Amino acid sequence: MNSKLAEFLKTRKAVIEQRLFSYIQELQAPSSLKQSMLYSLQAGGKRLRPILVLALLHAYRKKEADGIPVGCAVEMIHTYSLIHDDLPCMDDDDLRRGKPTNHKIFGEATAVLAGDALLTESFKMITTSVSTEVSAEKRLKLVNELISAAGAEGMVGGQILDMEAESRQISLEELQSVHEGKTAKLLSFSVIAGAILADAPSKEIEKLREFSYHIGVAFQIRDDILDLEGSEAKIGKRTGSDMTNGKSTYPSLLSLEGAKQKLIEHIQEAKQIISQLSLEKELLCEFCDMIADRDH
Ligand code: IPE
Ligand code: IPE
Ligand code: MG
Ligand code: MG
Ligand code: MG
Repeated sequence: MNSKLAEFLKTRKAVIEQRLFSYIQELQAPSSLKQSMLYSLQAGGKRLRPILVLALLHAYRKKEADGIPVGCAVEMIHTYSLIHDDLPCMDDDDLRRGKPTNHKIFGEATAVLAGDALLTESFKMITTSVSTEVSAEKRLKLVNELISAAGAEGMVGGQILDMEAESRQISLEELQSVHEGKTAKLLSFSVIAGAILADAPSKEIEKLREFSYHIGVAFQIRDDILDLEGSEAKIGKRTGSDMTNGKSTYPSLLSLEGAKQKLIEHIQEAKQIISQLSLEKELLCEFCDMIADRDH
């Protein structure tokens, strides 16, 4: 990986993790609940969603400080979505981020509640931890964006479509909606939130929505490919899970080669959009390449 992106990922990951863990540790909540929340947060994770918020601020040459709590909020929602996604009633997985899944350690009921708590607390991260330099109106805009990205119109909606597409043939358009909902919407929140905090022009924000759709779908296509040909040690989750669950994926619909081709097309579209914007392009283009080539 190019050293500029590698350095950005490493330094920002540390900053995000520090804020994330201290927020949970300071909660006045039952310790069993906090332990379960911290277990999944501290198990690892690439932190790409929060880092993307900071990358947008960086690309617009703005200070990144207020991107940190907003990034932590989306990481909390993402981690909750993984805890619930792994439950026996959903994908029934026993390995996540290289460790036993939350319900394997704490039991299903606590895993459900840890997810619920992460989801709910994420909003407080935006309403209370962002500096007063960010207007109340802007905060409300961020909260509304997060609700659309995470809820019925976003990730949760995508998860139910994913479930309903098990063990049946679906069209490419339907699969695109599944990937857009379950994965692209949260990544899109990161991009849009970074742009809102950076006061990006509204025309560019709409272009960035398109950009984030393409990187989001590409991200899930790569996830589907890694489920087939990745290494368990590297991805930190079981390979072959999609096949076992009869999931509709890009490789199952288009073959492995067809999925790889689609991935390239989405990345090209994303880069093409970036080339039209008034921001520093290098880091975001490297981000696109990393999504396409990642091995975990
Ligand atoms: C996994 O996301 C779930 C998908 C939406 C594909 P990541 O690959 O970002 O998982 P972590 O956060 O690094 O564990
Ligand atoms: C899940 O997609 C996306 C979520 C909203 C959690 P997957 O079910 O493919 O994610 P992994 O492979 O378990 O991380
Ligand atoms: Mg799933
Ligand atoms: Mg899964
Ligand atoms: Mg997967």
